[in-house]
Amino acid sequence: MVFADPPNFSCRYFTHSTEQIIWARKSEKVPHYFNYELMKQLNGDKQMKDVWKLPAIAPWEKSCGKHPTQKPLSVLTRLILASTKPNAWILDPFTGSSTTGIAANLAGRRFLGIDQEEEFLVISKHRKLEIENNKTAATYRQKIAGFNDKKELELFLLEEPAGEYKSELNLSKLNSL
Ligand SMILES: C[S@@+](CC[C@H](N)C(=O)[O-])C[C@H]1O[C@@H](n2cnc3c(N)ncnc32)[C@H](O)[C@@H]1O
Repeated sequence: MVFADPPNFSCRYFTHSTEQIIWARKSEKVPHYFNYELMKQLNGDKQMKDVWKLPAIAPWEKSCGKHPTQKPLSVLTRLILASTKPNAWILDPFTGSSTTGIAANLAGRRFLGIDQEEEFLVISKHRKLEIENNKTAATYRQKIAGFNDKKELELFLLEEPAGEYKSELNLSKLNSL
């Protein structure tokens, strides 16, 4: 479960502040990966709990346009670091503005995203192009919230074995845009 701080403009009900995350695997026979040690490190050497309090999405995360249900990079980064190894392939078949992909690439994972709305794929493409710039990528790694201090995530990412792949920007439907 994730706590966030979305605004409650109407002020006519309790402020909604939680979202559920479903954590599943294909079948019981498929072993799952959980990076317990990294999660503990990221949590000040205490076991990471399944209730997270993270800030709402920041304006810099919407630099390439808005998606109505865009998730904060802090949430996706934590999920990806917890459940994948560097270089892993990650699929988001309902990718929206591709926060999953941006978090994946910033953490040295590969990504495939699918969405039926071209408008959202355009935002995704621009977000991907943005982090092709190493300086921007480094700044974003520092800005991702939810860790003990701003430099911390970058340090943890650097500690993980580096990926040996070349990132390719291949957005098949976007060639004509
Ligand atoms: C909840 S949003 C995605 C949020 C995104 N995964 C994130 O982390 O920010 C769901 C997305 O699924 C897309 N979508 C809905 N039905 C679809 C379908 N049948 N095929 C492909 N995309 C679809 C919508 O256009 C929308 O962008």
